[in-house]
Amino acid sequence: MGPPQWSDLGMFMQSVMLLAREYGLDTCPQEAWSVWYRTVSEFLQVPPELMLFSGMALGFRDEDAPINRLRTDRADLVEFATLRGF
Ligand SMILES: Cc1cc2nc3c(=O)[nH]c(=O)nc-3n(C[C@H](O)[C@H](O)[C@H](O)COP(=O)(O)O)c2cc1C
Repeated sequence: MGPPQWSDLGMFMQSVMLLAREYGLDTCPQEAWSVWYRTVSEFLQVPPELMLFSGMALGFRDEDAPINRLRTDRADLVEFATLRGF
């Protein structure tokens, strides 16, 4: 439908990720796959009318893997939002 619907896709992905947590599964969205859309599409035999937007790893995290102990910083709300009337 146009550029605004890219955000809908992001929200849809987040819904899938939240549902996965409810089922005890972990996820990691990976848009980097779209750089290799030709290779991925060929391997998965994706029809030409479909676009590769993002991949998403789905499974059970390895608690012992150091990368899975990484905790990224979160910006404070006021750093990315302007609140008016509150
Ligand atoms: C739609 C989407 C696509 C992403 N694609 C990538 C990616 O291709 N490569 C990457 O390193 N991180 C990517 N990220 C970020 C990671 O999935 C993840 O959010 C990041 O490792 C930080 O983890 P955190 O969200 O727990 O802070 C993406 C995030 C989103 C929401």
